Amino acid sequence: MRTIEWRDGTVVTIDQMRLPHETVFLEMRDVAQVAEAIKTMKIRGAPLLGVAAAFALALVAYNSKAESKRKLIDELEKAAEILKETRPTAVNLLWAIDRILNGARDFSGNAEDSGAFVVEEAQKIADEDVTANRLMGKHGAELLHDGDVVLTHCNAGALATVDYGTALGVIRAAWEQGKKIKVIATETRPKLQGARLTVYELKRDGIPVTLITDNMVGYVMYKRLVSNVIVGADRIVRDAVINKIGTYTIAVLAKKHNIPFYVAAPKSTFDLVHSSTDVTIEERRPEEVTHAGSQRIAPEGVNVLNPAFDVTPLKYVTAIICEDYVLRKEDFASSKLVYK
Ligand code: MRU
Repeated sequence: MRTIEWRDGTVVTIDQMRLPHETVFLEMRDVAQVAEAIKTMKIRGAPLLGVAAAFALALVAYNSKAESKRKLIDELEKAAEILKETRPTAVNLLWAIDRILNGARDFSGNAEDSGAFVVEEAQKIADEDVTANRLMGKHGAELLHDGDVVLTHCNAGALATVDYGTALGVIRAAWEQGKKIKVIATETRPKLQGARLTVYELKRDGIPVTLITDNMVGYVMYKRLVSNVIVGADRIVRDAVINKIGTYTIAVLAKKHNIPFYVAAPKSTFDLVHSSTDVTIEERRPEEVTHAGSQRIAPEGVNVLNPAFDVTPLKYVTAIICEDYVLRKEDFASSKLVYK
């Protein structure tokens, strides 16, 4: 099954907080349920957040009793506000909401036809995500070779998308082409997307994977155990890649050790009208840091910082893989990206 599906007025997805031990499907029938699943990270990963938001708007349209198109648009706008409040950093969420809203506003038809348009558009966004991932896999696999050990961070796999994945899509494509590669996955404190989700996906596919804690990255690079790094992105702005906290550290270490640092992301992750200082980096609950699972590990009352993402300036990025091409650092300037 795809990570998320539209089934006649129900959005079905996998609860990512229960993986890898339990495969539990969530059935959501209104915007509040989708918004809650996003906030609690049952649904996560930039492209998947976009598709989930699109399907949440599809639920509004599907259930609407609006008698005029204006009323339907009002309902969609209200739902959009709720969805935009869920998580601030991944641009795919905002992109998908704007695409649906603008499409519905421009659509010429009555409330019923406009509602049907919204449902179709959401399904189109989901389908396009799968196509983009396959194309990224095809382009990106060219960068990987027999014997490579690829380090990846967080989970940029099928679970973070509708299917196949961005960074893991590239790894999958290389593996499917018969390239004998291996993966090192970082555990990705505090939510452990690497340990729980990336390892789960790779093991299912039979791709050799070794798990390390985040603070082992310097050591494995120093020991020349890594050939290249591939990560996903939550937002690519003019001057930087914004991705899971820890990405910047990995990028700096990769440069220090002359290891190529690749970012795989669809065009829906690009936000080239903004710079890194314009973006809100999500700050999550202190308990994610003071606790390991439900077990408190830090003394009561300690001050905690818990940014969910960090900012990697483009000078650390060797190339960005998107569905259309591989954009190498020499080409950043001609694509409105600022290499500094
Ligand atoms: O907090 P998360 O789990 O939603 O963060 C996910 C990431 O940072 C991923 O690397 C990014 O969204 C790319 S997923 C294809």
